[in-house]
Amino acid sequence: MTSAHNRVAVLHGVNFNILERRDPEIYGGLSLYELEAKIESWARELGLETIFFQTNAEGEFCEYLHRVPELADSAIVNAGAWTHYSRAIADALAVAAVPTVEVHLSDVENRDDWRRASVFDGLVLSKVSGKGPEGYREALELLAAELGAEQR
Ligand code: DQA
Repeated sequence: MTSAHNRVAVLHGVNFNILERRDPEIYGGLSLYELEAKIESWARELGLETIFFQTNAEGEFCEYLHRVPELADSAIVNAGAWTHYSRAIADALAVAAVPTVEVHLSDVENRDDWRRASVFDGLVLSKVSGKGPEGYREALELLAAELGAEQR
């Protein structure tokens, strides 16, 4: 079986289904649908294919991560508040073991102290935060380079 090796699973966690209702000063006022449309078009420019997933249930997020190795070659994860405390999600990401970039719309390093901690430390290729939707473009570029390198 041949594989294009260019698939990116983009996972959003808790409270992203209501992104447009969250503080626009912090999150920009976009809906998840609008954010995903941007990500999809940037991915296409880079020759990447995207699949999207969002849930407010932590167990479902873990179960989707279990399936990621079948569904994709890499991942972008914005787990929202779970980022800061869910060891279960970190364990599931470790099992998925695909190149992953952690993204946050807001500048998690310069908000509340508790947002500085990430359960994904040491598991991800890179962490991009505080760049709004553009952060996802940067993540896609990092993954395109990583997947290209793996292909050689
Ligand atoms: C977030 C940052 C988290 O601290 C917060 O709980 C979110 C969104 C971001 O994208 O900036 O839900 O992950």
